[in-house]
Amino acid sequence: MGVVGLAVMGSNLARNFAHHGHTVAVYNRTTAKTEKFIAEHGDEGEFVPSETIEKFVASLERPRRAIIMVQAGKATDAVIGQLADAMEDGDVIIDGGNSLFTDTIRREREMAARNRHFVGAGISGGEEGALNGPSIMPGGPKESWESLGPLLESIAARAEDGTPCVTHVGPDGAGHFVKMVHNGIEYADMQVIGEAYQLLRFGAGLEPAEIADIFTEWNSGKLGSYLIEITAEVLRQVDAETGKPLVDVILDAAGQKGTGRWTVKEALDLGIPTTGIGEAVFARALSSSLDQRAAAQGNLPAGTLKSFGDLGVDRDEFVEKVRKALYASKLVAYAQGFDEIKAGSAEYGWGVNPGDMAMIWRAGCIIRAVFLERIKEAYDNNPELTSLLLDPYFNSELTDLVDAWRDVVVYATRLGLPAPVFTSSLSYYDSLRAERLPAAVIQGQRDFFGAHTYQRVDKEGTFHTLWSGDRSEVEA
Ligand code: ATR
Repeated sequence: MGVVGLAVMGSNLARNFAHHGHTVAVYNRTTAKTEKFIAEHGDEGEFVPSETIEKFVASLERPRRAIIMVQAGKATDAVIGQLADAMEDGDVIIDGGNSLFTDTIRREREMAARNRHFVGAGISGGEEGALNGPSIMPGGPKESWESLGPLLESIAARAEDGTPCVTHVGPDGAGHFVKMVHNGIEYADMQVIGEAYQLLRFGAGLEPAEIADIFTEWNSGKLGSYLIEITAEVLRQVDAETGKPLVDVILDAAGQKGTGRWTVKEALDLGIPTTGIGEAVFARALSSSLDQRAAAQGNLPAGTLKSFGDLGVDRDEFVEKVRKALYASKLVAYAQGFDEIKAGSAEYGWGVNPGDMAMIWRAGCIIRAVFLERIKEAYDNNPELTSLLLDPYFNSELTDLVDAWRDVVVYATRLGLPAPVFTSSLSYYDSLRAERLPAAVIQGQRDFFGAHTYQRVDKEGTFHTLWSGDRSEVEA
């Protein structure tokens, strides 16, 4: 196996391959980094360092397989070009970076024209995952999976039942697409945890350490997940300098690298309402609008707010209701993410199996959670499931969650605390359930100002009302 690019992710992945008994050829544009890598980790396994890309390619066993771990964008294109020049027919180039799936589609086509196999593989789990077992989402041609599969299975994370968290997602850009949506779901998952924290902290007035204990307890139940677990750790951390909870001294402006944004942009193009992910991306953007927030603080009328004591709910009951609102909103965000995967798969002809995605996210990746086991079962039971929310198990869960969820949205509103994903997810849910939507009014407006026509509930055809004439209806 070859690894190009020995920054953090690349070196950890190279070490992971070596730890599993593979001989690993390594190359980095700047040779000093290769030398440093060998000096620090050379004794962890069999490494073959090279100073040039030609020597690196020549050191690989055929069919050659090299994974690129450099910056997404131009750097990745440059390295693909160099590898393709030095390689021969049938060799496999893998891009393990966070590339945009449309770039992957283009690269796969360019490489296929040169008889090179190209595999865009989403890799999740951060530095730790790359070293000890990531969740891997490879796309590309099925034939490449034949030779690559066993190698990737050997280094991937393993779910509790021993299944490696990797599978062939689908052709060309499918792997990077699924990785993109995974990251989008991650944004929503982090935001709902944040909203729960906000309500417990500034609604119920709990201290970060108390909330950490609540999250630790939640982590042993249905919400059990890596993100809940690490949130408890973050909340328990005390700042050495000030003695305050660390969370109180961290600037509340969330950063982003762009994969959440990509997920939402693509959802807009596909016409899939991923409201949870969208609100999560916007919430990060709003948090970072520091000037606007400073101008608004104390200057926007709040109306008549209630205090926690006025809500008529005791602390334990409130905590439990917040847990349920978090669970329900998370469920909506995942349902929407899976809708986007299904829509992307249909649009690009990938044949992605949604249940398999839940299966390979069970370990190694950031959104790993107990809950994914249930999602896998839901799609195993019914691969044609219209929405995850309609799966019998999740449906019965929702029966138990929905009243508390409504209460929490009311509490947040009464307390004047923002809960964009809790709130919009409930609106999404009620929209899905609704027998009639105001879209009928919108169709009427569109027909009025632009003669855009409408359909009727009681007969076939397309109609237009002569709004500026005698207001009779004509068939369009
Ligand atoms: P990290 O965020 O972990 O530092 P990154 O920025 O995604 O990683 O990628 C950095 C890697 O991309 C490095 O291996 C870098 O090579 P150098 O050590 O020579 O800088 C590599 N890289 C960036 N641009 C490159 C290019 N045009 N050609 C080849 N490698 C490149």
